[in-house]
Amino acid sequence: MIFSTVKKSESILVGRYNARAIYTASTFFNRRAVILIPGIGGNGPEEFIPGSMTTDSKDCLLFNEFAKAINEADVATLQIGKPGIDYLSAKPYNASMYENATWDDLLNNVIDAIQFLVKKGYNTTNIHLLGHSEGAVVAVDVASIYKEKLAGIILLGFVGENLLNMIKFQLLEAPIEYLIKSTIDSNHDNLITKEEVSKWNDTLVWKFKPNQTSVPIKEIRKFVKNDPIRLNLLKEIEQSSIWQKVLKRKNIYKLTANLSNFLNVKCFHGELDMHALVKNAVELKKSCERVLKKKNKNNNHKLCQVSIVKGVGHGFSVPKPPRSQMYADKTIGPPIQDFLDDLKNYAKTFVNY
Ligand SMILES: *[C@@H]1O[C@H](CO)[C@@H](O)[C@H](O)[C@H]1NC(C)=O
Ligand SMILES: *[C@@H]1O[C@H](CO)[C@@H](O)[C@H](O)[C@H]1NC(C)=O
Ligand SMILES: *[C@@H]1O[C@H](CO)[C@@H](O)[C@H](O)[C@H]1NC(C)=O
Ligand SMILES: *[C@@H]1O[C@H](CO)[C@@H](O)[C@H](O)[C@H]1NC(C)=O
Ligand SMILES: *[C@@H]1O[C@H](CO)[C@@H](O)[C@H](O)[C@H]1NC(C)=O
Ligand SMILES: *[C@@H]1O[C@H](CO)[C@@H](O)[C@H](O)[C@H]1NC(C)=O
Repeated sequence: MIFSTVKKSESILVGRYNARAIYTASTFFNRRAVILIPGIGGNGPEEFIPGSMTTDSKDCLLFNEFAKAINEADVATLQIGKPGIDYLSAKPYNASMYENATWDDLLNNVIDAIQFLVKKGYNTTNIHLLGHSEGAVVAVDVASIYKEKLAGIILLGFVGENLLNMIKFQLLEAPIEYLIKSTIDSNHDNLITKEEVSKWNDTLVWKFKPNQTSVPIKEIRKFVKNDPIRLNLLKEIEQSSIWQKVLKRKNIYKLTANLSNFLNVKCFHGELDMHALVKNAVELKKSCERVLKKKNKNNNHKLCQVSIVKGVGHGFSVPKPPRSQMYADKTIGPPIQDFLDDLKNYAKTFVNY
């Protein structure tokens, strides 16, 4: 019998980077815990999403929502911010620490979070790593070090494809595919008229020539591919210290699925995710199926499971009304209750092993 009276959260500093963290204990004697690892950019332990990017236009603390769902299963949580980034991503507490951080710093930060829990009396075999987006890749890499010493990984909005290809696609192709071709070109004649643009004037700005009433999509595509602002951003990302080590690494679907030889691999992915496209989940699922076939022979019962959550995006929220165009609004949060229930129900299974 579990009396679920989830304890109050504490704000604490963790590890060699003094990472900002939020720890919520459980009441359960045989302690289980989940470490939450945030996604791309300057994210603190709450994974703060501003109202301009949420379905309901209110600020959303995405990790607080996920943590609450997990705590309701009487599983403890440790939300860990990035090195140098303060609570609520308000400002860095150490800008040069964040700007100089490397991929290994992100991994070490999570290793320190694991050690923090060990000092609190948790066995690593009862610890899950939950990563969102870039954090999911961090979770995979840390799990590759610990293997059977961890309970499992929970990957949300996982990116398994080559990161550089993903970023190039996001910057140079996605606006054409997921906004202009699919939606703005409402009659699908491969021409964008002034009238079509005017309905999306907050999203697409196009300078028509004086006697021009429409522009072929291929001309916009060419413009986007050569847009100096985008190309500069790409260059900056290519030079970012955090991603140097992993940017050009080949895809990690097999590597991730193989981890299920040691620990539970569970992935939740939004069907409409425009940040990490759903193909990442589909590919991981294929790799899981291959690994599972072999495992059955070896009597290994660890999970390798991918759940595609219908109708939601990168933050497990529905597209923002009234236009509900996922690419234009890139909505992240608030997560739908069904997903939070899925997460809670998954956390409830932790007590069984
Ligand atoms: C990286 O760290 C060095 C030394 O601490 C500092 O001088 C430099 O400004 C930092 N780089 C960035 C981009 O902040
Ligand atoms: C910021 O972090 C760097 C290490 O990355 C450290 O050398 C420096 O002392 C820190 N600065 C402050 C003000 O804590
Ligand atoms: C942690 O759990 C494992 C597996 O149940 C067990 O073999 C190990 O002795 C435990 N370690 C500690 C420090 O309790
Ligand atoms: C966009 O169009 C709306 C009406 O269709 C108009 O009220 C608004 O001022 C326009 N915004 C810009 C930036 O042109
Ligand atoms: C647009 O105007 C230019 C001259 O200003 C002319 O050369 C061109 O043929 C015109 N294009 C169309 C489609 O009318
Ligand atoms: C996955 O594991 C198999 C053996 O089960 C191995 O042959 C393969 O090289 C591994 N792949 C990766 C990417 O780790």
